[in-house]
Amino acid sequence: MKHIAVIPGDGIGVDVTREAVKVLNRAQDVYGFKLEMTHFDWSADKYLKEGVTLPEGALDMFRKEYDAIYVGAFGDPRVPDMKHAEDILLGMRFGLDLYINLRPIKLLDDGLTPLKNRGTKEIDFVIFRENTEGMYVKIGGIFKKDTPEEIAVQEDMNTRAGVERIIVAAFDYAKKNGHKRVTMADKSNVLRYGHDLWQRAFADIAKRYPDIEANTQFVDAVTMWMVLKPDQYDVIVTNNMFGDIITDLGAALQGGLGMASSGNIHPGQVSLFEPVHGSAPKYAGKNVTNPIGAILSAGLMLDYIGYPEAAKGVEAAVIQTIASGEVTRDLGGNLTTTAAGDAICEAMK
Ligand code: NAD
Ligand code: IPM
Ligand code: MN
Repeated sequence: MKHIAVIPGDGIGVDVTREAVKVLNRAQDVYGFKLEMTHFDWSADKYLKEGVTLPEGALDMFRKEYDAIYVGAFGDPRVPDMKHAEDILLGMRFGLDLYINLRPIKLLDDGLTPLKNRGTKEIDFVIFRENTEGMYVKIGGIFKKDTPEEIAVQEDMNTRAGVERIIVAAFDYAKKNGHKRVTMADKSNVLRYGHDLWQRAFADIAKRYPDIEANTQFVDAVTMWMVLKPDQYDVIVTNNMFGDIITDLGAALQGGLGMASSGNIHPGQVSLFEPVHGSAPKYAGKNVTNPIGAILSAGLMLDYIGYPEAAKGVEAAVIQTIASGEVTRDLGGNLTTTAAGDAICEAMK
């Protein structure tokens, strides 16, 4: 039995989490394992009503009592500074030291990509986004706010240990999965301190993996090559900010943000799984958005907690429903979120 925390969050996070939970229930029946899922209503609503974001003691509770955390999305127009998301989502990523943001870019059906003459063979790689440092650490400040002389400083923090461990994770993954190349996306031509460190760490670590080609590209060029020649990539490793940006581009290659899945991982410790997309407020509660990214994230979670067959089964069921056109309107179908989730459950035999 594994213990899962489920945090639907805001907006369409609630809609898609409902479907992911349905699929997790179905997977238990089909593959014969047991999950205990505990729901937490941490959200913009709760923050606005009760002033509560990530309750005191929550991280310790997850470390001690849970195997994984499943999240929908955060973001609400009534909380423009994203205070609750900073406390809850970034609070868990940083507080649980989930340094690997694993974001697969895998096209599941030739018809879904906007790229001409590209299909499932060409679009299949994984992005390792550093998840605990960079510009996300909130070091900085504002001086002379709201004056013409205002100065805003937002530091980009790169530690040797932090950079090394994400690069090692990328190479280890490549080695384990038989990939021939790891590409680092950086901006060392301009960021001569932080990304010089990334370059040196990458070159050092690459020596330990003589069978894997170590390749570096500037991140601006990576955005071009992801569109023009995506088949060159097996594993991309990059920093927090660039990883955020290029994984939305990667989502587009797969058929849109509704398709993209992710894990926030610290190997061997409680880790967090969530779709790449946000709360898409204009679709909140309308039962129209695509649950696939959320469902595939639940699949990544099943793999992580020790049910790889079930994870494969979830992906196969998703592929089957796409092939039969049982999909939401972002993919050209006419199903509701609920009906698309039902179709995937039905396809899991
Ligand atoms: P978003 O991902 O919420 O939505 C952007 C657009 O992508 C949508 O308008 C829609 O066209 C499409 N889309 C996203 N998810 C979809 C789905 N499941 N099915 C079909 N189409 C989908 O990004 P945004 O509009 O930039 O941000 C909205 C809010 O979400 C903001 O508050 C933002 O900060 C937050 N956000 C949260 C997370 C997270 O919790 N991990 C991630 C990204 C954005
Ligand atoms: C993501 C999101 C988050 C990020 C936000 C909501 C904090 O865009 O998960 O990609 O920037 O990491
Ligand atoms: Mn993002």
